Amino acid sequence: MFRWLRDHGVIERNLVLMGVLTLITVSIGGLVQIVPLFAVETTIERVAGVRPYTPLEQMGRDIYVREGCYLCHSQMIRPFRDELERYGHYSLAAESMYDHPFQWGSKRTGPDLARVGGRYSDDWHAAHLRSPRALVPASVMPPYAFLDRPLDYSDIAERLGALRTVGVPYSEEMVANARADLEAQARPDADGGAFQSRYARARQGAFDGDPGSITEMDALVAYLQMLGTLVDFRDVTPAQLRQ
Ligand code: HEC
Repeated sequence: MFRWLRDHGVIERNLVLMGVLTLITVSIGGLVQIVPLFAVETTIERVAGVRPYTPLEQMGRDIYVREGCYLCHSQMIRPFRDELERYGHYSLAAESMYDHPFQWGSKRTGPDLARVGGRYSDDWHAAHLRSPRALVPASVMPPYAFLDRPLDYSDIAERLGALRTVGVPYSEEMVANARADLEAQARPDADGGAFQSRYARARQGAFDGDPGSITEMDALVAYLQMLGTLVDFRDVTPAQLRQ
């Protein structure tokens, strides 16, 4: 009756046979999980308001990654009561769908930043980045005053183009106007009609307090001020979030 058990011993004693059979079994399991995904356009539920980042915000995001801000800050509010009360609505997958790479993070030496946009003024952010301890005496965040240097955005069109190849829906027009859009957003007095038509809910401003020059600080503050502001949670129910 337990003959098959004895026969199974053949497999257990033969390492190569066991390896091959394991591989076949695991592959079938893998295929069952992976193949159906090729048939769906996206596994992320689309949500109204989420748009690709403006060129200035994207430069700020690249500085955020370059400076390793993600080593101390997460961008992922979990659906737990304490997090909702502190940070606001839990993060939606769609809110980071254009992040390459995503910035969810795994460490919170400082607070989560997924919804920091609009919580403080531009001046607060610039002053805080220049000297965190000037505003929060007990802060262990390092100062980033050197970000007050000119922003090198000569390759901004290439950056948007690269993101487009991995699926971010930047149009030809957005890539062609990347430089102009970046400059329009960083100059509060510039005519931003065309820029606004390409990027909904994007704010123009002198993010570092000086409208005269475009600095790395401008880009980083523009990025921080956008975080968590694209989806309007004020009067939407979960069903309405779907577009
Ligand atoms: C060594 C860890 C560390 C690094 C690196 C770091 N921060 Fe922080 N950050 C903190 C801590 C701790 C706080 C809370 C105290 C404070 O407000 O300064 C904080 C606070 C903040 C806040 C205020 C958040 C709030 O809700 O009050 C912002 C915005 C911020 N950091 C942005 C950044 C950015 C942008 C970078 C990268 C340029 C960065 N941080 C790098 C530790 C860090």
